[in-house]
Amino acid sequence: MSGAALTRSLFGLFFFGVCGAQDCPLHLTTSTVVVRYGDPVSVNCTVSEDHTGIGWEASEGSGPLTNNVQFVTWSLKHLTIWDIKPQCYVNFLKNGKHNQCEQELEVIVYKTPDSISISAVNHTGPMLEGKQYQLQCEVQNIAPVQNLTVKWYKGETLEDQTTYDNLTKTPLNVSSTLLITPTSADDGAQYSCVAELELGPEGPEPHPADTSEPLTITVHCESLMPVLTASL
Ligand SMILES: *[C@@H]1O[C@H](CO)[C@@H](O)[C@H](O)[C@H]1NC(C)=O
Ligand SMILES: *[C@@H]1O[C@H](CO)[C@@H](O)[C@H](O)[C@H]1NC(C)=O
Ligand SMILES: *[C@@H]1O[C@H](CO)[C@@H](O)[C@H](O)[C@H]1NC(C)=O
Ligand SMILES: *[C@@H]1O[C@H](CO)[C@@H](O)[C@H](O)[C@H]1NC(C)=O
Ligand SMILES: *[C@@H]1O[C@H](CO)[C@@H](O)[C@H](O)[C@H]1NC(C)=O
Repeated sequence: MSGAALTRSLFGLFFFGVCGAQDCPLHLTTSTVVVRYGDPVSVNCTVSEDHTGIGWEASEGSGPLTNNVQFVTWSLKHLTIWDIKPQCYVNFLKNGKHNQCEQELEVIVYKTPDSISISAVNHTGPMLEGKQYQLQCEVQNIAPVQNLTVKWYKGETLEDQTTYDNLTKTPLNVSSTLLITPTSADDGAQYSCVAELELGPEGPEPHPADTSEPLTITVHCESLMPVLTASL
């Protein structure tokens, strides 16, 4: 291959690889935004070339197609839509032809739970050593559950955790259960559950986390029971 041919094919590769893939002259402040339900949101879309119109299209907060500006802002005082997919689009001339392209903004709307509570299923009072019991954690009105982890703690120790694969974006009620077989050493142990939202690199730090009131268990030794019965 001659030097000139090599140069031409490298040039071609360069053009194909770099310019072919990325020819939409739009840039968003951020490609993903994480917003608490009801909070404000604002994202800029900037155009880097001459254009004949730029605008946002969304179920709320869209603006008219605008000339003579370098950027347009998608902005809401209170975001109250669970499932929204705003798009910034631009019209421009390229080699004398009209072109349009767009960039989609990913919006993750979250809500912390109204309540989180823990209880023993079908049981009240002291537990017996060696018997199995079921604890339940109920989390009300939280979103999105696909990014929720419910963590179980005994004292400070993480015992178990549950994730959810429901893709619903609106708030849901969810529960998690933990099976326990207490020993006498667990007398007075405090169980609690935490609902934690992990919303990715654009999300809030620390992760929004709500904790239940603790449930304190009382455990009676099995050997105590016959003694008690005998003394009655
Ligand atoms: C959008 O751009 C304007 C002008 O540069 C700036 O004042 C504003 O803070 C920007 N907003 C965001 C969300 O980046
Ligand atoms: C709790 O009691 C209800 C009603 O008696 C029963 O349907 C359910 O299966 C029980 N759950 C457990 C975990 O024992
Ligand atoms: C997600 O939850 C909703 C509401 O409880 C329910 O209607 C839907 O069937 C669930 N989807 C899946 C995939 O479990
Ligand atoms: C969650 O439970 C509460 C109380 O039972 C109820 O008022 C609410 O409608 C439920 N929410 C959903 C999304 O099912
Ligand atoms: C949140 O859920 C989405 C959809 O399932 C997933 O793509 C994303 O990785 C999750 N983020 C985190 C931090 O788990």
